[in-house]
Amino acid sequence: MNPLLTTVAVLLAVTASSIGADSKAIKPHDEEAIQRAVAGDAKMAERARLDTNRPAYHLVAPGGWINDPNGPIFHNGYWHMFYQHNPYGDGWGNMHWGHIRSHDLAHWERLPIALWPSKEVGEDHVFSGCSLIRADGKPAILYTSIGRGKSATDYAEQWLALGDDDLLKWEKIGPALLPSIHGDMKVWDWRDPFLFKYKGADYLVLGGNLNHGKGGEAIVNLYKAKDASLMNWEYLGVLFKHPDPKVVNIECPNFFELDGKWILIVSPHRRVEYFIGNFDGKTFTSEKQGLLDASDNFYAPNCATDPAGRRILWGWIRGFKDGQGWNGAHTVPRVLNITAAGELKQEPAKEIETLRKKHLISLVQKPLAKESPIQASPDSAQFEINAAFHDGNNCGIRLFKSETNPGLEILYGEGQLHVGDKTASLALSGKDPLNLRVFVDHSVIEVYANQRLCLTRVFHPAAKPSVEFFARAEDQTLNAEIFELESAW
Ligand code: FRU
Repeated sequence: MNPLLTTVAVLLAVTASSIGADSKAIKPHDEEAIQRAVAGDAKMAERARLDTNRPAYHLVAPGGWINDPNGPIFHNGYWHMFYQHNPYGDGWGNMHWGHIRSHDLAHWERLPIALWPSKEVGEDHVFSGCSLIRADGKPAILYTSIGRGKSATDYAEQWLALGDDDLLKWEKIGPALLPSIHGDMKVWDWRDPFLFKYKGADYLVLGGNLNHGKGGEAIVNLYKAKDASLMNWEYLGVLFKHPDPKVVNIECPNFFELDGKWILIVSPHRRVEYFIGNFDGKTFTSEKQGLLDASDNFYAPNCATDPAGRRILWGWIRGFKDGQGWNGAHTVPRVLNITAAGELKQEPAKEIETLRKKHLISLVQKPLAKESPIQASPDSAQFEINAAFHDGNNCGIRLFKSETNPGLEILYGEGQLHVGDKTASLALSGKDPLNLRVFVDHSVIEVYANQRLCLTRVFHPAAKPSVEFFARAEDQTLNAEIFELESAW
């Protein structure tokens, strides 16, 4: 046997036996808890199915509540997505990890609940986390365990679970990082592990704050694995402190290399931000910052790479009506890149085009006069619009408009993009066209503008599906296509 592999094998055997001794009380796999949750889902699904506002090609739970995307990973030809999930209600609570998989990033298959709270040791919630194929080939999840202390704010542990090769059945190993790793330093809201590689070694970031959420001490901490088991870690220090003293805490940090730069994404209890900079194994120096999505309907994203090296990200869409038997969805997958000018570029993964089932309209160099908007009527509220307005200013798209209801207006003018009452800056230079890619899925509207600006909205339509392209001040020339999309399930 290769001497390096022998060392890895011995190390894994040693840590595995010491872990077993530590965590005798944890049931490694609890089929009963899983079946209970699956039954909860079935009950919630009955009600959820009746709601016509429920998205069809965006990822939703079978019924019940969904929040953060967790541990996306590509393995053995499948994309796996896990998610924060309450199988017993349509509000936040009883956090489990739901599980779905896809061959093509567009059509998804539901799988049994992956992780459940281990009530036998007082675990109340299985919070957000990440996944990885370990050096010994074992699928691994690292997540935040809540409930063995006073509250999620006061006390958390980071636990490891190992899966079978299909990622279907998971066994809990137990705590991999305890708060004592920080010595005398107290970290509040310590949660949401995100693994990454640097020079071949496993590193981890976790969010939190150092002053019980009083502001000015919201941080991301950095850790390095001592060995390939992912059970032994070294604390390297604070990687990042949020520059805005108003920020009280950081959730769901994502940290990864992209096109020669390092990107840190944070969810700071307000709109999601990104920082682009450099990393040397210990220190992150940020050079540029921005909003990942200009709306607070988007939160807590998570990402992974595919075998071709594409960096793919999903966010949680929040802000739906309560009491419908379901709540929450995930965005379509976004591919991230950094442009030659150093800007973050986001565009929907091209696989989403496999959902197209009907080509509703195609307009080429069509004159769009001020007084005469161009209208289309999709059969259902599941469609995609791809539009280029040739000189970008004072133009846009109205959705779900009727005689009695203004619907939702997407308007560009004076360097600002407005989507209903939400506004974001988008500078188009000179005669740049305005490119809008809009995904409409019942109560979800995702807007991508010129591959630079994303704005996700929850909108409950009060009228039949309709699209109206308009020019407000000057005449325009329009290229546009509309496709009706099928369901992801
Ligand atoms: C972000 C978050 C995470 C936490 C999870 C709990 O939305 O609050 O920090 O792990 O949701 O569901």
